[in-house]
Amino acid sequence: MWVAKTIEEARRHRQQVSGRVALVPTMGALHKGHAKLIEAAKITGCEVVVSIFVNPTQFAPGEDYDRYPRRLDEDLALCRQGGVVGVFCPTMQQMYPPGQPGCELEVGLLSNQLEGEHRPGHFAGVCRVVAKLLNIIEPDIACFGQKDYQQLKVVQAMVEDLAMSVRIMGCQTVREEDGLACSSRNVRLGLQARRHAVGLYRALMEAKMLVEQDGESDPGVVEAAMVQAMCVYQIETDYAVIRHPHSLAPLDCIEPRLTGGVVALVAGVIDGVRLIDNMLLGQSAVEA
Ligand code: PAF
Repeated sequence: MWVAKTIEEARRHRQQVSGRVALVPTMGALHKGHAKLIEAAKITGCEVVVSIFVNPTQFAPGEDYDRYPRRLDEDLALCRQGGVVGVFCPTMQQMYPPGQPGCELEVGLLSNQLEGEHRPGHFAGVCRVVAKLLNIIEPDIACFGQKDYQQLKVVQAMVEDLAMSVRIMGCQTVREEDGLACSSRNVRLGLQARRHAVGLYRALMEAKMLVEQDGESDPGVVEAAMVQAMCVYQIETDYAVIRHPHSLAPLDCIEPRLTGGVVALVAGVIDGVRLIDNMLLGQSAVEA
């Protein structure tokens, strides 16, 4: 497995990979969810390249950039175990050379709401680094977890609008036994906060039951139930909403059989750690 720290090295290795390439972009602190992304990427028949870079431009001032977990040696071991062909783990100097004017990519409405509203500049930073990684590695496929649902939609929209020749593949969220979605930030949860964090999943399950079993069609009722569930687990709710699964637009009415499903999205802070999660409701076959 090659490990490239510079763009030049990564390009040289990339050119030597015969066959198709799938990129799994990450910020490291790899977990079961990333292992599943690597597995999904391999199933496509591609050689898998993983990128590891904690991208400063997607963190707003005062967010957890400095506290974001970093453990490159363990990450490289997981990649080796997963049969990854190469890892690109650039330095800051490589990705953002001092003095080089930066480029901003905005994906309009999709990126201004929800995470974009709570984390100003977040998606501009994500798009910038993802576009850069795609230009460096030139993969045929790039794999993103559905756990970051809005990110997946924003990246799909960017790639489509800029006619980039890569297929963006969304991969199912991997969960712990109690339902908590795997996230690199979970390691920052203390014992009590870890117990409370499951409230995000419980809120989504509550929404699922209301929509799929009770046939609730009022988004306001479902959203209030999610907020209530998160409150029980002492989660400071940033949002708990029902949206259109593709445009992420608010809905007047939940009509899963007509619209092909809706997405429930939640975000909240548990003892200083901010987590997000989501679930497709109404029609399990909805393609993310
Ligand atoms: O999902 C992530 O880990 C990051 O947002 C990504 C896509 C690697 C960009 O830094």
